[in-house]
Amino acid sequence: MPGRHFLQIPGPTNVPDRILRAMDRPVIDHRGPEMPALVRETVAGLKQIFQTARGEIVLYPGSGTAAWEASLVNTVSPGDHVLAFNIGHFSHLYAECARKLGVVVDEIDVPWGEGVPADSVRDRLSRDPAHRYRAVLVVHNETSTGVTSDVKAIREAINAAGHPALLLVDVVSALGSIDVRFDEWGMDVALTGTQKGLMLPPGMAVLCAGPRAIEESARVTTPRYFFDWRPVLDEMRRGYFPYTPATLSLYGLREAVRMLLEEGLANVLARHRRLAEAVRRAVAAWGLAILCAHPEWRSHSLTAVVTPDGVDADAVVRAAAARLNLSLGTGLGRLKGKVFRIGHLGALNDLEVLATVAGVEMACTFAGIRLPVGAGVAAAERFLLEEQRTATPAAP
Ligand SMILES: Cc1ncc(COP(=O)(O)O)c(C=O)c1O
Repeated sequence: MPGRHFLQIPGPTNVPDRILRAMDRPVIDHRGPEMPALVRETVAGLKQIFQTARGEIVLYPGSGTAAWEASLVNTVSPGDHVLAFNIGHFSHLYAECARKLGVVVDEIDVPWGEGVPADSVRDRLSRDPAHRYRAVLVVHNETSTGVTSDVKAIREAINAAGHPALLLVDVVSALGSIDVRFDEWGMDVALTGTQKGLMLPPGMAVLCAGPRAIEESARVTTPRYFFDWRPVLDEMRRGYFPYTPATLSLYGLREAVRMLLEEGLANVLARHRRLAEAVRRAVAAWGLAILCAHPEWRSHSLTAVVTPDGVDADAVVRAAAARLNLSLGTGLGRLKGKVFRIGHLGALNDLEVLATVAGVEMACTFAGIRLPVGAGVAAAERFLLEEQRTATPAAP
């Protein structure tokens, strides 16, 4: 199909030309003199994006799943107990990853479409005077449901219970799109992949580890080699890695960090809030439901749209791909066929969102959903016009 492919799944996201160009270069010697400056700038920039002074960055070739495993093998041992909340497909898989590593997981079921209930965190931890729970596992932005949990409230709940459990947070579809305050919200580990808000192709796992989590890694007994972050931390402090790093991806990551900081993190987050609201206005104008019913939990990086009874949501996704060269996210796990997901994160602007909204409108129509054609585009456009009129971007 002529023209560009609209990749509007909730990650991987569109890779800006600037990042592609930064990676389009000869491979360097990963033990050579270029490495320390490359690593140092990338790490310093990532710390700004995680909003941390006390966290340390750990990089691996891999993806979000690798980052899950790395976060767990360094902080909990087989037989340890952790508290987790099943708020969607990915939070369940994070819990599953822990279980496969021999960890005892108390996985609390929450209706999909809701966030982690902070009062339940406080209750469970208050009823654990022996401090059996070593960690609380949270997915900040649940990509299967389009729900963002309140990590600050979860940290306050842990503190209110006076519990020493570590707070391990999956920020895979949050970092670079949704506010992630590692230090202020007392995170012990935050983890992501490069293919979402960081705008890179899939290929790297990025972790931010706080001092308590790093201390724990000396205590835990989990067998680990590649994912043992202690040698990685040691080498990265000198600008190198104990394994052969994805050198060209590192150039891309440095460029991504530069782009986010040039725009200014506050502006990046405001842009995501604005584009998300434009999409939500469109969904409302179509008369369709957003899976996340509570406005305060609605994600700024994606929207999961519920299709009317009798309409297979996968038919919308198929029509978008086949007829419009537009990729939308399918429903995952128990949401299969019930929702489709619109990704609005990463390198994205107002016009691209309007085109996406137009595409969704057309795909829904092809799939047999009766909606007022043009209404979503008009609602989103009206909102974006008003925002453009009143916006005063913050200095980067
Ligand atoms: C919130 C979240 N966590 C973890 C993952 C798994 O990451 P990956 O697919 O990069 O291994 C994903 C993937 O989309 C995700 O959205």
